[in-house]
Amino acid sequence: MYVNVQSIRMSHRGGVRRPWDMKIAIAGGTGTLGRQVADELQARGHEVRVLSRGAPRYRVDLTTGAGLDKALEDCEVVVDASNNSSKTAATTLVEGTGRLLAAEQSAGVAHHVCVSVVGCELVPAGYFRVKAEQEDVVRRGPVPFSVVRATQFHEYVAATLGALARWRAVPVPRALVQPVASAEVARTVADAAERGPRGGRVEIAGPEMASLADMARTWRRATGTRAALVPVPLPGGLGRALRGGALTTDHADVRGAVTFEAWLGYGKNGEHG
Ligand SMILES: NC(=O)c1ccc[n+]([C@@H]2O[C@H](COP(=O)([O-])OP(=O)(O)OC[C@H]3O[C@@H](n4cnc5c(N)ncnc54)[C@H](OP(=O)(O)O)[C@@H]3O)[C@@H](O)[C@H]2O)c1
Repeated sequence: MYVNVQSIRMSHRGGVRRPWDMKIAIAGGTGTLGRQVADELQARGHEVRVLSRGAPRYRVDLTTGAGLDKALEDCEVVVDASNNSSKTAATTLVEGTGRLLAAEQSAGVAHHVCVSVVGCELVPAGYFRVKAEQEDVVRRGPVPFSVVRATQFHEYVAATLGALARWRAVPVPRALVQPVASAEVARTVADAAERGPRGGRVEIAGPEMASLADMARTWRRATGTRAALVPVPLPGGLGRALRGGALTTDHADVRGAVTFEAWLGYGKNGEHG
């Protein structure tokens, strides 16, 4: 079993806890990433609480703070895997993080793990700006923290291409991407939660860097989709950032092993490759 001295020492209101029996709350624990983080931490022996608006037991709403106090009682660690990519993203991710951190401080939480996106500060567009702002709130916040940044999930790339293919022509912007299996990201997030506050970030990226057009061709072959791929220009700073590989990295701390092609071929659990 993974054991880390720093997390053995991490205490909640003075009590020493072992790394395999911490109480860990996962905000967004019903989402693509969050539910796998919850399963992983539970399998490692922790007591896990799943928090979201639709969670069966711990219903919380980050946009209002409802339910947070009760959900965080006695928790040592909070993993924030919530998400909102709509126009109201900041309400959940930036203001919501402020509410979450305030509730954590009152509850005596010792470690906040923020899940974020590789290169978000380099892309001058809505969602990525919001993610960079969310990280700032965490860095300036009252709770010791770690940030785990990931590249785009295979699930997200496949779902986006699938949704666009309904129009029979898939618009494909010129962009460099490096997708990763969310199951591998979940293990990295679980490691970070156990390791204790890093006061900085860990990055995980997929095994291959390629153009989105190449990934779309792989996806079309694997799924037997006939939709045409249509290159589209993305203007301005956003286009420059995506073409230049802002969402990719050569220096990831953790490199996923499951390629997009293997993930498409072997199902969605990230165990094959
Ligand atoms: N998707 C990607 O490709 C990708 C890549 C890199 C990093 N990330 C990061 O990974 C994290 C998780 O992303 P994901 O794709 O797994 O998200 P997701 O599948 O969309 O799940 C979002 C979760 O947040 C919860 N949620 C949404 N609004 C909420 C609110 N107001 N209050 C409480 N809970 C709320 C949802 O549950 P309810 O609807 O029940 O509330 C759900 O559990 C995010 O930080 C994201 O930036 C994602």
